[in-house]
Formats: sequence, structure tokens, C-alpha cells
Amino acid sequence: MIRTRVYDLNTGFDAGIDDAARVIASGGLVAMPTETVYGLGANALDGDAVRRIFEVKGRPSDNPLIVHISEISQAERYALVTPLAEKLMRKFWPGPFTAVLKKKDVIPAVVSGGLDTVGLRLPDSRAARELISRSGCPIAAPSANLSGKPSPTTAEHCVRDLGGKIPVILDAGPCRVGVESTVVLLTGEVPVILRPGGITAEMILEEAGCVSISPAVMGGLKEGEKAASPGMKYKHYSPRARVSVVRSASADSLARHLMMLYDNDVSNGLNPIIMCMTETAELLGGRNVRVLGRNAEEVARNLFSELRGADDAGFDRIYFEGCQETGMGLAVMNRAIRAAGFDITDIDG
Ligand code: TXA
Ligand code: MG
Repeated sequence: MIRTRVYDLNTGFDAGIDDAARVIASGGLVAMPTETVYGLGANALDGDAVRRIFEVKGRPSDNPLIVHISEISQAERYALVTPLAEKLMRKFWPGPFTAVLKKKDVIPAVVSGGLDTVGLRLPDSRAARELISRSGCPIAAPSANLSGKPSPTTAEHCVRDLGGKIPVILDAGPCRVGVESTVVLLTGEVPVILRPGGITAEMILEEAGCVSISPAVMGGLKEGEKAASPGMKYKHYSPRARVSVVRSASADSLARHLMMLYDNDVSNGLNPIIMCMTETAELLGGRNVRVLGRNAEEVARNLFSELRGADDAGFDRIYFEGCQETGMGLAVMNRAIRAAGFDITDIDG
């Protein structure tokens, strides 16, 4: 165990960033805020520092890390930037958009899990960009959770998972987006979404004129199939409680179905909770309910923190209202079905 220094950046911005920058520059790890989720950062050019990230998270070594930069112009130091990639970077950076490109040799193989590509991201978080620039190096950072757990959207979540294991945690309050960045393969003519996130498929289509969504985004991988994005093959976002996703176009039939499942659990001595949208919640009188929001953006912002909260409150069953896979709904459903181990019921048939 080491002592973890937690800085509130709203009251001590420079003290926190400067301490964290010294830690990064000397090969250590820092939990840092971004607009999506908190990241566990290390100097991306220091293979030993990056190896520590995998150890601390318990992350499989073939799952590559995203490299965070603080200026668009830095991208070409680390990757071969195609004209299409440049166009999308200019549109979506800073922001929740990760460009996967052919990597240059300065990026150690441990960062990219042995692949010949690297994911680059310029975060829309002043704290993250300032940390990168004061550290004097790009920062490799996965989400700052223990491998398999829901991603952290507050510094408190980072303290829970990583307190005593890393020297510094920076607190900039809850993350604005709440789900991770959109990971887009940009080595070919058509952008391929490997993981949906804060920048939607519709937004990429509008800018690029074409887009494709990897089948692994909403499906599981078949036995023996090779993952385009290695992260998609692992157990993900799992609270202790068992999660089921239930979806219907009709709020009434959804509510009836949820109440049936819920009441059945209660009579079996279980302690269930329903996570749903505002409209559905009004139809579920008397049951334990957490309202996730009025639209997919709000659900995205609350999703991970509610999954963690249900564990803290001792619920053992979570029923999660599924949504349409359009806009931010695709990112929400991608996370929800993984949290549920692909247990999803469309009650409309
Ligand atoms: O918003 C985010 O992206 C957050 C914040 C901290 O920036 N980071 C994050 O990192 O979510 P992580 O490691 O939890 O997820 C990265 C995902 C994984 O699914 C990984 O497999 C994929 O991106 N990925 C990274 N580099 C890749 C590459 N070169 N090729 C394909 N997939 C890649
Ligand atoms: Mg992650």
C-alpha cells in the first residue's frame, strides 16, 4: 500500500496538476479526469511505466491503450495521419473521439498490445490537456477502473478501485459525457466504429460521408473470432449484481414486464432494482427504481455510477431499460449489454 494524494482541482488546480505531472514524468501513474471517464495515465513513451498500468488494473496485456495528446499537431509524431483522419480530428477534437491509425516506432509495443496501430485522443478536459502538456509527454490511459468493473466517472470511484495503489488521483468532479470515447479505425477509406461513444455514428457519417459499425459493437465475438478491437472480447462494466436489459417500444408493456420480473424476484427473496427512463419510472409505483434520465445523453452520464451505486446499496438484480441504438443510444446499449453479459430481452418480439 502507498499513500494516495487526492487533489480537488476546483480549489487547487496548479498544485494537483504539477504534482501529477512530476509523477508522470518520473514513470509513475496518475488517475486523471477527462470529459468521458477518469483515466489511469502514464508516460506513453515509457514501456515500464505503461506495463505498471496493466498490472495495477489487472488488464490483459493484448488490450491496447489509448494515447492522449494535448495538441492536434502532436498526432503525426505518433501515427500516420491520413487525410480522412485529419478531417475528423479537426472536427471532433478536443472531444470523445479516438482515431486508430498506423503507429510510429516511438510508441512502445506494450501500449498497442502488439498491434501495428495506435489509438490517439485529444480530450476536451482542461485538466487532462494541462497535465499532458506539463508532463512533457503523451499519456497512455485506459479507464481508471479495475479490469471488468464499470468505468469511473468520479474521483471517488477511482479512490475505491485504485486508492493505495497509485500516488495521485486528480478530482475535477463528475464526467460530462459518462461513457468512453468513440474508437474509430481510420486506416482505410471508410471509418469503422470499433467502440461507440460520445461522438455518434451519425456525426461521423455527416462529416466523412460514410461510416461502418463493427459487428462486435452490438454482438459478442464468436468462438475463435479475432477482435478488431481487443477490448471488446473481455467481460466488461460488470457490477456484482446480475444485470438484464429489457426493451420495448411501448412504455406500458415495458413497465408491465419489468414489474412481473421484479415482483417474482421479491417473492423469491431477492433484492432487485429497476434502472429506467423518467417516463417508465412513473408506471412502476412502489418498486425500487433509479431514474437514469430523459434521453440517451443523460442515461450515458449516469450509467456507470448507477451500476456502482446498486452494488453499494446491496441490490442483487438489476433490470435495465434498453433504448434505441441511434445517436448516444448505441453507446448506452453497447455498455448495457456487456454489463448484462448479453442478457437482453426485446419484449416486442
Ligand atoms: O474515453 C476514453 O476513451 C477513456 C478515457 C480515459 O480517455 N479511455 C478508455 O480506455 O476508455 P480503455 O483502455 O478503457 O478503452 C480503450 C478501448 C479498448 O476497447 C481497446 O481495445 C480499444 O480502445 N483500442 C485502443 N487502441 C486500439 C487499437 N490500436 N486498435 C483497436 N482498438 C484499440
Ligand atoms: Mg475501460
